[in-house]
Order: sequence, then structure tokens, then C-alpha cells
Amino acid sequence: MIIKFFSFFFGRINLIVRFICFVCVMANMLVFSVIEDDESQSVTSKKALITGIAGQDAAYLAKHLLDLGYTVIGTHRRTSTDASYYFWRLKELGCYEHPRLSIEVMDITDSISCLNVIRKHSNLNEIYNLAAQSFVKESFNSPTATLDVDGAGPCNLLNAIFQTNKAIRFYQASTSELFGAVKAIPQTELTPFNPRSPYSAAKQYAHSMTVNYRESYGLFACCGILFNHESPLRGEEFVSRKIAQAVVKIKEGTQECLELGNIDAKRDWGFAGDYVKAMHLMLQQDVADEYVIATGTTNTVRYFVEKAFERVGIFIDWEGSAENERALNRDTRAVVVKINPKFYRPAEVDLLIGDSTKAKNALGWEPEVSVEQLINMMVDAEIS
Ligand code: NAP
Ligand code: GDD
Repeated sequence: MIIKFFSFFFGRINLIVRFICFVCVMANMLVFSVIEDDESQSVTSKKALITGIAGQDAAYLAKHLLDLGYTVIGTHRRTSTDASYYFWRLKELGCYEHPRLSIEVMDITDSISCLNVIRKHSNLNEIYNLAAQSFVKESFNSPTATLDVDGAGPCNLLNAIFQTNKAIRFYQASTSELFGAVKAIPQTELTPFNPRSPYSAAKQYAHSMTVNYRESYGLFACCGILFNHESPLRGEEFVSRKIAQAVVKIKEGTQECLELGNIDAKRDWGFAGDYVKAMHLMLQQDVADEYVIATGTTNTVRYFVEKAFERVGIFIDWEGSAENERALNRDTRAVVVKINPKFYRPAEVDLLIGDSTKAKNALGWEPEVSVEQLINMMVDAEIS
């Protein structure tokens, strides 16, 4: 009997060991899936609101946050434009129909609108204020409308946070335009502001109010002082996209010439996709602060034009000066660039170049795309 039992037992030992192993593996999987759930929970439970969701930066930021697992509420002012066109940037990045993205109407110039939407989403973790009248030249034509959106708008949002949930972290889109007629080269967080347009004057008010809400009421409110950042999703009125579109049309024979204003202005151009990552990093720190976000290189509009033409295989020669300056196609001698004074501004910001050492050290942020790569990316995107 005993012998029979042992021979039965040892005969099945292989099966028993396998069964124990199976139980261990299942237990392990269960434990790890609980840990993973916890980790993804800590990310997916974050909820952010982005104003100006139809704009360039908002599209890249929405994509970045959705990729990180956030729930995103995008807000826009009421528009009569068909949504299928209005949200083209979100569509381009493949996030318009994302299950964790919802879109609502909120005009940031209307304090009631801001309060209602933020009260409705009082469990928000972060608000990124990207809405603005962002075209500097237009601000000279509509200075008070620009002030409403770019100056009072952020103040409405700060007040709504103060009234509903002071734990909501706030990002304000400040700008290198604040440095205006620059008082130092390169510009850092310590460089004094010297605005040269209604746009930058309004942004200066918003910047100061953001710092004030932090210092007066303890809000976690940050300002990103971002230098020019571009992409294939850039508005057509900005010089980078205007150039990229024109050189491709000139190459394809559907446009004769590109008309520009001040081609000697210098800008520190980076890629928007890189810059939105810095916005997010700012709101993940222990302490709210200001950061310059830039590439640390500067180039003229003229250089941007030359490189863009080179990308489509056209080399240009400049001749003449000031308003009579023009660029010729080296092979055909056709005039491909002309100066048109209508694109001059009443006051120009001549030189911007940022030093983002603080962001590098504190946020671990660095740009990944050079201006030459950016130009190629933008030109290539225009080729149908
Ligand atoms: P953008 O493409 O012009 O997007 C701005 C968005 O704000 C637009 O979709 C616009 O809506 C919306 N908006 C305008 N008025 C509004 C209002 N009253 N209420 C709600 N939304 C309103 O600008 P961006 O290049 O993405 O820039 C994002 C932010 O960063 C802006 O605040 C800009 O000033 C700032 N910034 C940009 C740069 C840069 O180089 N891109 C550099 C520094 C700072 P509509 O589409 O209906 O006009
Ligand atoms: N838009 C435009 N169109 N600019 C031209 C043209 C033209 O035909 N010709 C020359 N420029 C010059 C402008 O005078 C300016 O010096 C430079 O090109 C860049 O102009 P924009 O691309 O319109 O950008 P911006 O520098 O004025 O403003 C952008 O960057 C700021 C950050 O420094 C915007 O995105 C602002 O919202 C942002 O704050």
C-alpha cells in the first residue's frame, strides 16, 4: 500500500512541480499587472485643460499629453468655421478623435466663460494657456483687442483657478518678444523686458499677473518664455510658413515671387514639437518658476529664405539694397524674392537669441531639431 502510494506520488511529481510553477507564474503576473495598473493610473488620472486648442502649440501639446496618458480638455472660442477645417492641426497629428480628448467652447476674454468651464472641471491638474492673438504685426492694428485676449485673458484664468481650486497648476505662454529692443545678448530669465509691440506689452501684463498670483496667493503658476518655434502646422501669416509655402509653389511654377518685409531681422527658431515638452516639464517641478526656452542660435530671415530655396534645388543671388533688394534664381535669373514695405512693422525686434541653460539644468530640456532640419521639415511638408 505504502509502496503503491509513493510510486503513484513520484510518478506524478513532474505534474505537481509543473502545477506549482504555473501557480507561481500566474501570481507573478497578477502582482506585476497590479503594479503596472498603479503606475498607469498615476499618469492617466491626470487631467489637463489647454486653451487655444485649434492653434499650433496646442495641437503638439495635446498630442504629447495624450501620449503620456493624460485626459485633455481643449478649449476654443466660438467659431462659425466648419469644425472639420477648424481643427485641422489636431487631425493632422491624429488626435482629434482621441477618446481622452474633449473639446469645449471657452472665450478667455470672458471671465464668466472661464469660471464656468474651470468650475465644471474643478478636478483639473493643469491648465496650459496657449490662446492668444499671436501675430505681432496684427497687434499694431488691433492693440486693445490684443490686450483683451493676451493680457486680460490669462488674468481671467488665474482668477478662475483662485476661485475654484488653487491646486490647479498653470502655464502661461510668455514670449521672447518681451525682450523687444534687447538689453542683453543672449537673453536669459534675468534680461529686462523691453516690449516693442502691443502684442508684447499685453504679454508683459499677463507675465506679471502670473508671477503676482503665485506670489500673492501661492498658485503654482509658471511662465515659459519661449522663442520662435515653428512647424508644418504654423499659421500661414508667420514668416517661416510663408517662406516654406512660397518656395515650393515657385518650384512647382504656381507662384512667381515671394514678397517679404525686413529680411535682416534675426530670430532664434526652434521646432514646436520640442518646445511643448518644456511646457509640460515646467508644471512637473516642485516649485513654479520662469524658463527661457530657445535653441541658442540665431539666423536672419534672409538665411531662412536661402536654405528653403536650397531644399527645392534653387540657389539664389541677392542684389540691390533696402526696399530695392531682390533675389534672383541663379540659373534662370528670374526674380524670386522682392521686398514689399507693406510687410514692415511700425517697430521691429531686430535680434532674438535665447540662453536656455536654466531649462537644461532644472528641467533636463534641450532642443532636438536644428533650424536647418526645421526648414527642411517645413519645406518638405509643403510638397504635395
Ligand atoms: P496660434 O497658432 O496662433 O494659436 C493661438 C490660438 O488661440 C488660436 O487657435 C486662436 O483661435 C486662439 N484664440 C485667440 N483668441 C482667443 C480667445 N479670445 N479665446 C480663446 N482662444 C483664442 O499660436 P501658437 O503659435 O500655437 O502659440 C501659442 C501661444 O504661445 C500663444 O499664446 C503665443 O502668443 C505664444 N507664443 C508662441 C510662440 C511661437 O513662436 N509660436 C513663441 C512664444 C509664445 P483661432 O484659431 O480661432 O484664431
Ligand atoms: N510674418 C512676416 N511676414 N514676417 C516677416 C515678413 C513677412 O512677410 N518679412 C519679414 N518678416 C520678419 C518680421 O518682421 C519679424 O522680424 C520676423 O520676420 C518674424 O516674424 P513672424 O514670423 O511673424 O514672427 P514674430 O517673431 O513676429 O512673432 C512670433 O514669435 C514670437 C516669439 O518671439 C509669434 O509666434 C509670436 O506669437 C511669438 O511670441
